[in-house]
Amino acid sequence: MRSVQTLAAVGASLVSMAAGQTSTSCNPTEKTCPSDAGLTASSYTVDFREGASSDWSMTYQNATYDATNGAAFTITASGDAPTMQSDFYVFFGEVTVRMKTSAGTGIVSTAILESDDLDEVDWEFLGGTATNVQTNYFGKGNTTTYDREQDAAIADSQSDFHNYTLIWTEASCTWLVDGVSVRVLNYADALDGQNYPQTPMRVKLGIWAGGDSTEPEGTIEWAGGETDYSQGPFTAYIQSVSIVNYNPAESYTYGDLTGSYESIEINGASNSSASSASSASTTTATTGSAASASKTGAIFVSGTASAAGSSPTGYTGTTGSNSTVTGSTSSSSSTSSIVTAGAASWGPSAVLASGALGALTLVSMLL
Ligand SMILES: *[C@@H]1O[C@H](CO)[C@@H](O)[C@H](O)[C@H]1NC(C)=O
Ligand SMILES: *[C@@H]1O[C@H](CO)[C@@H](O)[C@H](O)[C@H]1NC(C)=O
Ligand SMILES: *[C@@H]1O[C@H](CO)[C@@H](O)[C@H](O)[C@H]1NC(C)=O
Ligand SMILES: *[C@@H]1O[C@H](CO)[C@@H](O)[C@H](O)[C@H]1NC(C)=O
Ligand SMILES: *[C@@H]1O[C@H](CO)[C@@H](O)[C@H](O)[C@H]1NC(C)=O
Repeated sequence: MRSVQTLAAVGASLVSMAAGQTSTSCNPTEKTCPSDAGLTASSYTVDFREGASSDWSMTYQNATYDATNGAAFTITASGDAPTMQSDFYVFFGEVTVRMKTSAGTGIVSTAILESDDLDEVDWEFLGGTATNVQTNYFGKGNTTTYDREQDAAIADSQSDFHNYTLIWTEASCTWLVDGVSVRVLNYADALDGQNYPQTPMRVKLGIWAGGDSTEPEGTIEWAGGETDYSQGPFTAYIQSVSIVNYNPAESYTYGDLTGSYESIEINGASNSSASSASSASTTTATTGSAASASKTGAIFVSGTASAAGSSPTGYTGTTGSNSTVTGSTSSSSSTSSIVTAGAASWGPSAVLASGALGALTLVSMLL
């Protein structure tokens, strides 16, 4: 445990160093921080098959783009870990990442939400196991226990694109694969809400090698073994990301140091009916301006997602199915049985999930 926590601490400090002047370097539970740029549209889609988007920034290395697969995140050698994040934040809502994950022992494809005070909701795919996804969450960067991760059996994530959706409200967070709920986390179940992710988040997408020989033993083990780069290149593809922001706004401000959703001030709440029908990925040049939005182009899986919430105060999203305890749910396209993670997958994954950016930064620092 100690070494795991040390790794987390190291990761966190490297994040701060690397993040520099960006708002992620400021933890709003510790001091007053700059406001976060909000997604002003209630409904937004970026289609990376059209190329790079000015609404997103690479945080490490580059992605490439093509008209079939969208954004490609490729590892060819030790140290590679291309990663991007949205320039804007979302405050409760629905986020669907249409993704094809990478094969490769030790390779980790990720799609996560993360806030400035290190609330986090994760999808993580290990390249050695195409039919499993790890779901995880963190509240305020709390990594003192490692019981939050759950695995779900899924259809092959490496041979085809699938939709990985989070429906995130102040009451619960639901993970869905192609519209089928694989996990629900209720607010009260996360340490009476204290560990519940509840602050404005940005979307982070990327790939890294947990199996790199420079990683700690526990990390390599968690990642499924040491990565053999001669088997590469290893690529994860993101075709598109579709978002419903339940609280579209120019910006969000932490009103105090609690990290509570009730403390978040929503500034310049915008008018969702002003959303245009454009789904182009390059319609906005500046963070926080009216983002390319497509109400009609949205997204989600019938039956699980409500219409976009337009009221800044009304979180109108539905929360999907609320039964995590059923052994399995299945649909014609995927088998989605819920398997509680075993003891073997405790620490490292939790730490790495929590420190996803930290781990990437660590890699970059070692170069
Ligand atoms: C990313 O790509 C751009 C344009 O292709 C290039 O100018 C830049 O140097 C690349 N950055 C990195 C970190 O590879
Ligand atoms: C962190 O989480 C643990 C386990 O749920 C809990 O016991 C502890 O009180 C939490 N710490 C904080 C500061 O919330
Ligand atoms: C949205 O904006 C339009 C045009 O500016 C305005 O007519 C309408 O009343 C606004 N709706 C809301 C809910 O603010
Ligand atoms: C996945 O998302 C795409 C793009 O939004 C949509 O066209 C498709 O119907 C979705 N598929 C499933 C199975 O939910
Ligand atoms: C979960 O299900 C229980 C029992 O059906 C219900 O009382 C509760 O409101 C649900 N919670 C959410 C967040 O949907």
